[in-house]
Amino acid sequence: MKGAFITFEGCEGSGKSTQIRLMADFLRARGAEVTITREPGGTPLAERIRGLLMETCEETIAPLTELFLYEAARAQHVQQIVLPALQRGAIVLCDRFYDSTTVYQGVGRKLDPATVGLLNRLAAGAVRPMHTYVFDLPAAEGLRRAWERGSDDRMMQEAVTFHEAVREGFLALAQEEGDRITIVDASRPIEIIQEELRRHICGLPFMENR
Ligand code: TMP
Repeated sequence: MKGAFITFEGCEGSGKSTQIRLMADFLRARGAEVTITREPGGTPLAERIRGLLMETCEETIAPLTELFLYEAARAQHVQQIVLPALQRGAIVLCDRFYDSTTVYQGVGRKLDPATVGLLNRLAAGAVRPMHTYVFDLPAAEGLRRAWERGSDDRMMQEAVTFHEAVREGFLALAQEEGDRITIVDASRPIEIIQEELRRHICGLPFMENR
């Protein structure tokens, strides 16, 4: 695959989407083809699955059902959007990918990590993040920011302790996979974070000839 797959992870309200847009501007100005996408979502069908996952639901969604829905959306997204873009040589900036499943469903919902890992690999196929930025913020602060901008979905309604466990899960994953994952302190101003990201991405091997 000629392209580069970069993922952005972290708690709710950590500012990933803003940083992805600014990063795309920077990379496009250097002449790169950039695809911005997100999970769950990114294709019409995957966005419909996102709707099922985000809307508040009177019926409790069983953790395993939730896992399958995230993975179903991922399989569609990978086949329809991510793989073709990487084959064209694009830089794909993706707002969440399978690390979210590892942490939200594995740590947050306490599903068996081996099951989550297996389904992640099945849904992602040959696609692996080349590098991942984890945006770190105290969970309560992230939730406050997300509520302020009007978000309030089914996942956000989980207790703060759930979101704290998710935060710890991301930090632990970053420890385990230090070469791939960079922790970004998301409590700082937007411009400072963007500067750090731009500096960092320019040092990644795939940027050498770009
Ligand atoms: P966001 O993309 O707007 O941050 O919201 C997506 C929500 O879905 C967020 O609460 C994280 C959650 N999520 C999972 O629980 N598992 C996953 O695999 C993914 C991609 C997201």
